[in-house]
Amino acid sequence: MRSKLSKVHSYAWMCAEAPFVIVVCGNKDDLSWIEDCSAAAENMLVAAAEIGLGGCWIAARGTKYSGRDDGQVIADILGIPKTSGVLCMLSFGYPDEEKAPRTQYTEDKVHWEKYKS
Ligand SMILES: Cc1cc2nc3c(=O)[nH]c(=O)nc-3n(C[C@H](O)[C@H](O)[C@H](O)COP(=O)(O)O)c2cc1C
Repeated sequence: MRSKLSKVHSYAWMCAEAPFVIVVCGNKDDLSWIEDCSAAAENMLVAAAEIGLGGCWIAARGTKYSGRDDGQVIADILGIPKTSGVLCMLSFGYPDEEKAPRTQYTEDKVHWEKYKS
């Protein structure tokens, strides 16, 4: 199954060797399914890092890297019902490199009181 998922599009190759992959999906009838799934995905990535694992968010919702709707391609592989939307896949494993912490914070993107353009 991980091998199949790794071939969904060219940015999903790591699924083939990752010890486990989580496909994050939610009930599309729920107005906040995208927000809920996004928070769950990010929380899992942060929690994995905390215990020394590496994780990567792999695009599914809204992308067509496969030539079709990537979320639908994944849903078809796994038999996920039409009522569920696939937000993303998360590949997890032991990291083979350690990157130095960095920030993408830039002061000019912070607006105080009112947005200044
Ligand atoms: C919405 C979204 C989609 C992403 N899709 C992919 C993907 O398909 N394949 C991949 O290798 N990484 C994907 N990533 C991971 C990013 O390429 C990047 O590694 C990650 O966001 C960490 O970024 P940073 O190192 O700049 O903080 C995605 C990230 C986000 C937020």
